[in-house]
Amino acid sequence: MPFATVVADGHPGMADPVSPSASPRRSFLKEAAAGAVGACCILIPAGAAVVAWLDPLARSADGDALVPVGKLSNLPADGSPRRVTIVTSRNDGWTRDNAVPVGAVYLRRTADRTVEALHSICPHAGCFVDYVPARRMFFCPCHESTFAEDGSINDPQSPSPRPMDTLDVELRGDEVWLRFRNYRSGIQQKLPIA
Ligand code: FES
Repeated sequence: MPFATVVADGHPGMADPVSPSASPRRSFLKEAAAGAVGACCILIPAGAAVVAWLDPLARSADGDALVPVGKLSNLPADGSPRRVTIVTSRNDGWTRDNAVPVGAVYLRRTADRTVEALHSICPHAGCFVDYVPARRMFFCPCHESTFAEDGSINDPQSPSPRPMDTLDVELRGDEVWLRFRNYRSGIQQKLPIA
């Protein structure tokens, strides 16, 4: 009974006039192509992993990312701050830790859809700054620096060399997203720690 043969373009047609000597060569070419595809499957992911390990930007990509830190609707309308813990993932090139607490910030609503974020670390020597609701100000217990609700120094005697550090904030609907960074203490300039 006659039968059709599928040729390279996928259409049935006449049988390929294959010579006996061409068959082993074709088989060799098929095996070589399969080997090349297999090698690509292994080498491409391995190459990407090596690039990620060698590239410091790839390793610290999460450090510059915005992270969700809460809801706008949960912040008091009177501008008083709420302290929130920043939880993010950390990738050191070899391992990835999810949900690692890396610090804390104070969020406060300054207008209907405007939020300010203040780092909770004192710029003087790195202690945690407390918020004192009764006096509507921030107070650092280590050396008694005081700050107004907007983070500015409100006492000329405060040893802090600069106001509390602000952080970048973005509103996405009702969600507050923030770029968390730490800054050097003990100096007037606000310089991020690399
Ligand atoms: S660490 Fe805050 S006043 Fe010194």
